[in-house]
Amino acid sequence: MKKDFLSILDLTQEEALELLDFSLKVKKGKVNDRVLEGKVVALIFEKPSLRTRVTFERAVYDLGGKPIYLSNNDIKLGQRESVRDVSRNLEKWVDGIVARVFSHATLIEMSKNVKIPVINALSDLEHPCQIVGDFLTMMEKSGKTKINLAFIGDGNNVANSIMLMTALLGGKFTIACPEGYEPEKNLYLAAQELAEKTGAQIKIIRDPKEAVIDADFIYTDVWASMGQEEEAEKRRQVFKTYKVDSALLKLAPSHVGVLHCLPAHRGEEITDEVLDGPHSIVLDQAENRLHSEKAIIIKLFRRMY
Ligand code: CP
Ligand code: NVA
Repeated sequence: MKKDFLSILDLTQEEALELLDFSLKVKKGKVNDRVLEGKVVALIFEKPSLRTRVTFERAVYDLGGKPIYLSNNDIKLGQRESVRDVSRNLEKWVDGIVARVFSHATLIEMSKNVKIPVINALSDLEHPCQIVGDFLTMMEKSGKTKINLAFIGDGNNVANSIMLMTALLGGKFTIACPEGYEPEKNLYLAAQELAEKTGAQIKIIRDPKEAVIDADFIYTDVWASMGQEEEAEKRRQVFKTYKVDSALLKLAPSHVGVLHCLPAHRGEEITDEVLDGPHSIVLDQAENRLHSEKAIIIKLFRRMY
């Protein structure tokens, strides 16, 4: 693996498959690694978090290290001090950085200025750690890494990372989204380029019903991501027909699994009935964040230490 994990594009197909297998071994208790013994990892969060913060804190602790949580209020990244200065100071005291940021450019700036690993805990462009955990979940449920997934809703950070991972592993990704809310253009082009090599199919369509017809998995996420609060009302109108409800589920194959990265806005992009129903695998996803993040940390840090 590269020094950092900022994007699914940091992985080759071979590395992605190896990371998923390794995550499963970690989950089964077959890996006894204390790669972070005596080490400290800074967790910088410009935005709120439950799952990502707790799983990274727990992962660092279980691997022998100590996490230091730094909220935006503590360091005011880019306001009190530039990203470059914060990173170069941190490098003097800690052995790695996990960062959740508004702008992906912040991660690139951090990565450029330090020799220690930097891990993307969500940016406006991608949520790669989420997606490694989600592919572990889908691999466990289906026995496959070439999955057929329908994404319903906004072409956001989560959608971008799923699209790239599906392209890398040769599956089928269909997003049903309103016009103007497609995945990020450059990442879509990168996914198409990967797809030419792996045989993946990457499609953007408008109709959720058409998207789910042959899907093994349906994924959805909030209509307005963190940082888009001012657009929330407008988005409620734009996305109102992009809802994963029982009627939509009836059109999908009976074995379909439903994913959501959480937190969910119940009653908006997904109904209670589906989120809490028999097809939902959202808590398996949440659990797998811990195992896959340990695998990511071990792979990155073993390379360096
Ligand atoms: N799915 C996810 O990243 O959750 P948090 O925002 O709570 O970390
Ligand atoms: N797309 C969401 C994901 C939260 C885990 C956001 O960026 O807020």
